[in-house]
Amino acid sequence: MPQFTVVSVHSGVTVTTVRFYSTTGGELVEKRSWAEPYKIKMVELIKMTTEEERKAAIVEAGYNTFLLKSEDVYIDLLTDSGVGAMSDRQWAGIMMGDEAYAGSRNFYHLQKTVEDYYSYQYTVPTHQGRGAENILSQLLIKEGDCVPGNMYFTTTRLHQELAGGTFVDVIIDEAHDPNSTHPFKGNVDFGKLDALLKDVGSDRIPYVCIATCVNMAGGQPISMANLRELRVWCNQHGILIVHDMTRVAENAYFIQQREAGYEALSVQQIVHEICGLTDAATMSSKKDAMVNIGGFLAMNDERLYERACELVVVYEGLHTYGGMAGRDMEALAIGITESVQDNHMQARVGQIEYLWEKLESAGVPLVRPCGGHAVFLDARAILPHLKQDQFPAQALAAALYVESGIRAMERGAVSAGRDSKTGQNRLPKLELVRLTIPRRVYTQAHMDVTAESVVRVMHRASEVRGLRFTYEPSMLRFFQGRFEECDS
Ligand code: F0G
Repeated sequence: MPQFTVVSVHSGVTVTTVRFYSTTGGELVEKRSWAEPYKIKMVELIKMTTEEERKAAIVEAGYNTFLLKSEDVYIDLLTDSGVGAMSDRQWAGIMMGDEAYAGSRNFYHLQKTVEDYYSYQYTVPTHQGRGAENILSQLLIKEGDCVPGNMYFTTTRLHQELAGGTFVDVIIDEAHDPNSTHPFKGNVDFGKLDALLKDVGSDRIPYVCIATCVNMAGGQPISMANLRELRVWCNQHGILIVHDMTRVAENAYFIQQREAGYEALSVQQIVHEICGLTDAATMSSKKDAMVNIGGFLAMNDERLYERACELVVVYEGLHTYGGMAGRDMEALAIGITESVQDNHMQARVGQIEYLWEKLESAGVPLVRPCGGHAVFLDARAILPHLKQDQFPAQALAAALYVESGIRAMERGAVSAGRDSKTGQNRLPKLELVRLTIPRRVYTQAHMDVTAESVVRVMHRASEVRGLRFTYEPSMLRFFQGRFEECDS
C-alpha cells in the first residue's frame, strides 16, 4: 500500500504519522502511532557480554545459535516460540490448575475456548505443535501419499515423511522471491495443485496442509479469498484441509489490514472465519497464545477425534491432558482470548514493522513485505561472496551474535536439510536469517539496538566466512548441527 511519513510539530512535540490512501475509497487516511496495550509489572535482567566472550561462545556452540547458552545472549530473537510474556491473568490461571489425571476442569475450559474462538468442536491437547503433527500425520497419511502445502515447515514435513508421505510445495512463486511485494505470499497456486491432482489423483492426496502466516516464507499471510477458493476445490475433490494455525491471529490481522471487505471486522471474527473454512488443525500454542509450552490437535469429525484419542495416549498422555499440566491448559485458554484482541495485534505487528522499516531505510536486504512474527534478512544478498553450500544464513546469524549478542536463527539451506529420497542437500531459494520477535517481551529500544547491530554486520560483511559441517544430525539438522569456518 503506498504510504508516506509526515513529521509535524504540535506544541513543541514532534509527531510522526504515516499516511496512506485507503484501498477502498482512495481517501487519505492517517495512521496514528501505536503503543503497547499493557504495562510492565515484572522484569527479567539480561547480561551483556564482551566481543571476546561472544567469539569464544560461538566457537564452543559450533557456530550454531541453537547451541548457545541463553545466559550468553543479550537480545534473544531466536524464536517467538514459548518465549512470550504471559499476562497477570494467565499467571492467575496457572494458580487455578486442576492437576487431576483425568477430566481436569482446565481441559474443559480449553476445549470450550477452542470451540468459541476457533470453531473446532473437538480438541486433543498435546505437549506442543509437533506432537499434534505426529498424531495427525499417522492418522491421515498412508505410504505413497502426497501432501500439498503452502511451503514446508521443518517438523511438519518430517512427520509427513515419517508417516510415508511426500510434501509437495504449492505456494505461489512470489513466496520464493524475497523482493516480491505481493500482500498475500502465503496463497496457494491452483495451477500447481491441479497439476498434482492430475499427476497422482485425489486418492493419494489425503489433505492440503495450509499454514496461516507462513513461517518459512517470512511470516507471510494467506488471503481469505484464496482460502475460500481452496475450500471449493477441496470439496470438489473430496480432500480435507488441515490448518497449521500456529500464527492464525497474525494472519487475521493482515487480512484486516490488507484485504478488501475485512477492514471493519475484528481479528477475532476473522480468526473464526479462517478456522471455519478448514476441517482440522494442528496448533503450537507457544506462539499466538503466549504460553511457554503446549499445543493441540482440533477437528470437527467425531470419528477422527476418536482415532486421535486412541493415539494420543500412546505418545502424549490421556486425551484430557495430552502432555500438558492442567495449569498450562488454563493459561492457554486465557492466552487464546488475549491473542485475538485488535489492540494486542496492532502492537504486536506494529513492533515488527518498526524494526522492518528501520532496517529497510538503512538499505538492508529483507524479505518483503514485512511479516507477522519476524523480520527476515536476505543472507545471500548480504553475503554475496559466499556460495549457498557455505551456508550464508548460518554464517550471518553467527556473525550477528559475535557483533552484539543478538541471537537469530538460520532459515535457509541448513534448515531445509537433505532430500529424503536422493540424500542431496536441498538448496532453497530463500536463504534467510530470522530476527524473531517474542510477544510482549522487548521494547522499541531493543529494536533500535537490533537494527544498529544488523547494519554494522552488513558493513563488515566481506569479513564473514562461510561454514562447513563438523557434525550433521540425520534429521532436523539445524537444531544440533555443528560447524567450523571455511578457509576462504
Ligand atoms: N508449525 C509452525 C508453522 C511452526 O512455526 C512450528 C514451530 C511448529 C509447527 C511446531 O510447533 O515447536 O510447538 O512443536 N516453530 C518454532 C519456530 C519452533 O521457532 O519457528 P512446536
